[in-house]
Amino acid sequence: MPYAAFRSIGAYVPPNVLTNEDLTKMVDTSDEWITKRTGIKERHIAAKDEKTSDMGTKAARKALDRAGMQPEDIDMVVCATISPDYFCMPATATIISANLGIKNATAFDISAACTGFIYVLSIAKAFVESGMKKNVLIIGAEKLSAITNYQDRGTCILFGDGAGAAVITATQKREEAILDVHTASDGSYADLLMTPNGGSGSVHDALDRETAGCYMQMKGNETFKVAVRTLTQDVRDILEANGIKSDEIDHFIPHQANYRIIKAVGDALKMRDDQVVLTVAKYGNTSGASIPMAINDLYESGNLKKGEMMLLDAFGGGLTWGSALVPFAPFE
Ligand code: COA
Repeated sequence: MPYAAFRSIGAYVPPNVLTNEDLTKMVDTSDEWITKRTGIKERHIAAKDEKTSDMGTKAARKALDRAGMQPEDIDMVVCATISPDYFCMPATATIISANLGIKNATAFDISAACTGFIYVLSIAKAFVESGMKKNVLIIGAEKLSAITNYQDRGTCILFGDGAGAAVITATQKREEAILDVHTASDGSYADLLMTPNGGSGSVHDALDRETAGCYMQMKGNETFKVAVRTLTQDVRDILEANGIKSDEIDHFIPHQANYRIIKAVGDALKMRDDQVVLTVAKYGNTSGASIPMAINDLYESGNLKKGEMMLLDAFGGGLTWGSALVPFAPFE
């Protein structure tokens, strides 16, 4: 049976920055409040004509280049997004494939909100280990600004845009193998974080985005509490299941939703500060893109070395959550 190896990482961050100061001109808030409650200082916002697939394509191109692979090598493309280019179809993954010149590959999107990257990682691992696919391109790409209500101070301070991508390939080397991926959900919490309308569950006919509820809505405080509790347990479970202690982890790379959530989970797991990767201050919450963007930051800072063990964890709308133990395994 082949193993699945995490070969490369890439990301794209749109240049336009929205600072906390900018937000004080849009809603009743302050830099102090946002910084204290979330750790976020700024987030990047895509250009009006820049689509999720455009950002995903740029991130994916970098990941392919860094893996030394050509578009024709890729036999599956999976994109995690809750802000696809088009409602229903076509899938953003098919557009990214076309942009990159990837032909005849299986391509589809998955919707698991902020846990999206861990879900696509589990899909890539399963397809590669089963022998059905050899080289899988996984992407987390989000234009959350397109589904954010900039009159709602409870959500608009949190979210940003961006994309990250990775190449997962088959290997025979045990030491390169992605060790484990956990994914889970509990739909009874669906109303904590949702875009209530625009789908078949819509109760409004009106197409006005604001009144029709096509924007994200969130019960932030309840989400916060479930996030800390669930993430801490989930990470404990994956470490225990694999006989790994938290001090053996080289890089703890949590979903970047809120500094206080990351800190609470990190403290509960006794993670040292130097193990924890933090990008929330500069990117905000980019949902499915946040983990690969954080891995890319670590890689570009020169601090992600071959063989080092990454512990990923995420939590998001659904509710969904997951974690993964992933050694970084670039080709020689
Ligand atoms: N600026 C200033 N005040 C704000 C505000 C803002 N942007 N947003 C809310 N407030 C106010 C509220 O109205 C409330 O005022 P009140 O006490 O007069 O009623 C007060 O701040 C506290 O609100 P609360 O919602 O309890 O704050 P909080 O400490 O829970 O922080 C979040 C709000 C959204 C930052 C926090 O709940 C959070 O991060 N939740 C998790 C979100 C998340 O990670 N979601 C994605 C999951 S992947």
